[in-house]
Amino acid sequence: MKLSANKATLSFSNGKPNIDLPVYEGTVGPDVIDIRKLYGQSGMFTYDPGFLSTASCQSAITYIDGDKGELLYRGYPIEQLATQCDFMETCHLLLYGNLPNAKAKADFTKRVTNHTMVSEQMQFFLRGFRRDAHPMAIMTGLVGALSAFYHDSTDINNPEHRDISALRLIAKMPTLVAMAYKYSIGQPYMYPQNNLSYAGNFMRMMFATPCDDYKVNPVIERAMDRIFILHADHEQNASTSTVRLCGSSGTNPFAAIAAGVACLWGPAHGGANEACLNMLGEIQKMGGIEKVGHFMEQVKDKNSGVKLMGFGHRVYKNYDPRAKLMQETCKEVLGALGLEKDPLFKLAMALEKIALEDDYFVSRKLYPNVDFYSGIVQRAIGIPVNMFTGVFALARTVGWIAQLNEMISDPEYKIGRPRQLFTGSVKRDVLPIAKR
Ligand code: ACO
Repeated sequence: MKLSANKATLSFSNGKPNIDLPVYEGTVGPDVIDIRKLYGQSGMFTYDPGFLSTASCQSAITYIDGDKGELLYRGYPIEQLATQCDFMETCHLLLYGNLPNAKAKADFTKRVTNHTMVSEQMQFFLRGFRRDAHPMAIMTGLVGALSAFYHDSTDINNPEHRDISALRLIAKMPTLVAMAYKYSIGQPYMYPQNNLSYAGNFMRMMFATPCDDYKVNPVIERAMDRIFILHADHEQNASTSTVRLCGSSGTNPFAAIAAGVACLWGPAHGGANEACLNMLGEIQKMGGIEKVGHFMEQVKDKNSGVKLMGFGHRVYKNYDPRAKLMQETCKEVLGALGLEKDPLFKLAMALEKIALEDDYFVSRKLYPNVDFYSGIVQRAIGIPVNMFTGVFALARTVGWIAQLNEMISDPEYKIGRPRQLFTGSVKRDVLPIAKR
């Protein structure tokens, strides 16, 4: 962190002395005011529900400029990574800070694929779930359970343990997501096949059966890989902050990532692609494109509680660069599968068109986010709607673990412990039960 020549001065209207606060400069993006000593100097906390104005850490991994619609992993624009690199290169970049050359990529891929199998006992654990359990409920359990299987990589303070748990998590997530899917439909689990690409292996574990040959469709493989790249990291979002907070207590990496999975499940976060597709399905049932206008009226009515899922973003207030790339992929996949006339895709386009021209959305700077299209792509690929968030969790695992490892290596890291503005009752005495 670089100390700025600029300082912030906090003054009070009650005559208390002013307080000077240091300001730090990042390499790019807004400066931050260091309030760490504020409580000691003033007896006051700052108040910022939802952390809208608070930098919770310093990080060198991902940078977002929400106004420009820019997303950089380790400085590289997402557009370049999505079109010139694959997910393994992206994982290497996020974890170690550099894009690998051919040899480093081959070594890294080998180290990851070495860990694609899960303990054979995992299937017995999985069997304890109802077949109709939500895959994210299963994933929260399975990822947390990894800590019960891999005792040799649970010490978060040991850099070797952190590295091996990172590789294990990246390698095993596709296996676990596919197992959760196969369990839900009663088909046998498919073991990973390490000569396939990361995305190709995932497709095979999802859709192959032991009784038939399975050929990976290269268009779908590339689309899946792009979904993984676009979802790999997104700086200090809710699930990543959850992973950091959870990991800050020194818990093991598998437990911290399980916390991230749980957070991602929510419809305001990773659950949005599922919610978006369910929304399109509902409009379709109501009468399809003809009902789009009526649906939009509901969205704009604050009392209806209806939101246009897949629209809006806490940080992007111009456009979500991932949405553009996903829209491109969406067209490619639908074209390759002969689904250009897919009614849900047409519906999504109609909704997008209206929203982009409607003052409600324009004035609030609401644009499609990545989830608006990723659901349509995944559905076309054959991934069931309730698995979408599991696929997102699979892709985000590398980001979570890179951020967790960065935090643990940061000499300034402390256990997370936010404060509060207390508005409850002042001290009072318990009355005997007969007198209450
Ligand atoms: N549909 C209708 N109105 C919306 C939407 C939406 N999707 N999103 C925001 N608004 C409105 C809000 O009601 C609010 O209106 P007001 O100013 O009249 O009160 C205004 O736009 C600002 O919205 P906020 O809720 O303050 O925006 P915030 O940054 O807190 O929320 C969020 C962002 C949670 C993503 C929100 O836009 C939303 O719920 N979108 C739908 C869910 C979604 O697609 N989530 C995916 C996020 S991306 C990801 O996780 C990969």
